Amino acid sequence: MSTCGIAAGAEPVYRALADAVRDRELNIEVRKTGCVGMCSMEPLVEINVDGAPRTMYGEVGVDAALRLLDEHVGRKHVVPGFQVPGVDQLGFYEEPGHDPKAKQHRIVLRNCGIIDPTHIEDYIARGGYQGIKRALAELGPEGVIDEIKKSGLRGRGGAGYPAWMKWSFARKAEGDEKFMICNADEGDPGAYMDRSVLEGDPHAVIEGMLLAGYAIGATTGFMYVRAEYPLAIDRIENAIRQARRLGLVGKNILGSDFNYDLEVRLGAGAFVCGEETALMASIEGKRGTPWPRPPYPAEKGLWGKPSNINNVETLANVAPIIRNGGAWFAKIGTKKSSGTKVFAVTGKARHSGLVEIPMGTSLREIVMDVCGGVPPGRRVKAVQTGGPSGGVIPEDKLDTPVTYESLQELGSIMGSGGMIVMDDTDGMLDIARFYMGFCVEESCGKCAPCRIGGKQMMNILDKIADGNGTPDDIILLKRLARSMRKASLCGLGQTAPNPVLSTLRYFMNEYEEKLLQPV
Ligand SMILES: Cc1cc2nc3c(=O)[nH]c(=O)nc-3n(C[C@H](O)[C@H](O)[C@H](O)COP(=O)(O)O)c2cc1C
Repeated sequence: MSTCGIAAGAEPVYRALADAVRDRELNIEVRKTGCVGMCSMEPLVEINVDGAPRTMYGEVGVDAALRLLDEHVGRKHVVPGFQVPGVDQLGFYEEPGHDPKAKQHRIVLRNCGIIDPTHIEDYIARGGYQGIKRALAELGPEGVIDEIKKSGLRGRGGAGYPAWMKWSFARKAEGDEKFMICNADEGDPGAYMDRSVLEGDPHAVIEGMLLAGYAIGATTGFMYVRAEYPLAIDRIENAIRQARRLGLVGKNILGSDFNYDLEVRLGAGAFVCGEETALMASIEGKRGTPWPRPPYPAEKGLWGKPSNINNVETLANVAPIIRNGGAWFAKIGTKKSSGTKVFAVTGKARHSGLVEIPMGTSLREIVMDVCGGVPPGRRVKAVQTGGPSGGVIPEDKLDTPVTYESLQELGSIMGSGGMIVMDDTDGMLDIARFYMGFCVEESCGKCAPCRIGGKQMMNILDKIADGNGTPDDIILLKRLARSMRKASLCGLGQTAPNPVLSTLRYFMNEYEEKLLQPV
């Protein structure tokens, strides 16, 4: 059970089912799993018993759950009314022998919704910890970096930097001690992919941390998780304890000479603390504000020592790559953007939730085929990707394949995976104001371009929204955006103008309609 299910009332449903199965002395197991991805249909109950089709039911309350026991389990028929598309119908596939029509490919979410995330045995039963075993027995640190290089894995936290390159810099850096950091700060509005992976499959991230730490020569790994994610913190702490008990974390891991411990550090929920240098300042117990780079963390990071930071999703990809080989991963997705990407699709999508698609899938396939488009009678107007650092992509560009480069060409980015679907009732000026307002709130204030520039852009957007803007304000908006991009200290200020610029680029008419004078 993940946050989405619990928020929708899954706890009493689970208890009712578990109690009824016990009272009726039924020989079936009631299991909790992480989120399967169909968050808008929670609480979800999947029934898999002999003699009846495996079926998923959505929006299941306590009464409905008991009815499922009577009818689906007892009388072996599918109960009409609240059956929802099964995992297969939403187009999931797993290798081998995948369904060619399936749109989704689960690597990162391979275990989410299937295993009980509180049981390490469940993870191990599905091939867990085979990656680190292979690394220690066969590959060695350089071999691990080599497989990651072959895979083409790029960072999923936003910038898309090749993982192997960062690992290689950190490995080569001189230092008596090195640190590996998992960035689980996840602050983009609408994005909750990392939370779901931590909640649904924490050992996948731990194994990624082990492999990355081993590759760079780290002695300690820090999981930096925002305190607003209490369930994720709970699951990851539980998973670290379990892994330590089995000799997978700590001294002489799996009987080797690899010593590496993991610690959890909590962030207070400031967006800027997702930026690498601010994050490290926060772990050091200082105020979470960025420092200029270079030097990069690989050279001078946490407490001045060589460090490497990767995002949760990046790390969740690592164990399958080491287990199956880099070449296997490189075949999925496109040449320059290999593998898959998890998106948290929200906004007006009919089936909002988490999807994992091979890179190169078009935005239209994600929105229309996987997420069911927008409600009947409405039409898709645009999709926002990349959160505050991204931008809007209008409907006529939805056939664009999702790759790092193609989204950038459209003036947006892939970002960490927030995807907000908008329909014809959404106003683009409001979208621009929402994101700029977020960045103004979240600016740490250390540098003037971000602190003052953001506020001034916000004032102009408000002025236009109030019907008091002039064409000169549009010119000023663009000039301020250029200055912020060039002069801000970190990515927050450098990218904050992007949603404004992209709405100006594609929906200028909506700004013009509000202006006092014609342009
Ligand atoms: C303002 C700001 C916020 C960020 N927030 C996150 C975040 O929440 N999670 C994340 O993984 N990366 C975030 N990033 C990107 C990280 O700084 C960093 O590039 C990333 O964690 C590196 O991991 P990767 O190479 O695996 O993507 C943020 C960057 C900026 C500028």
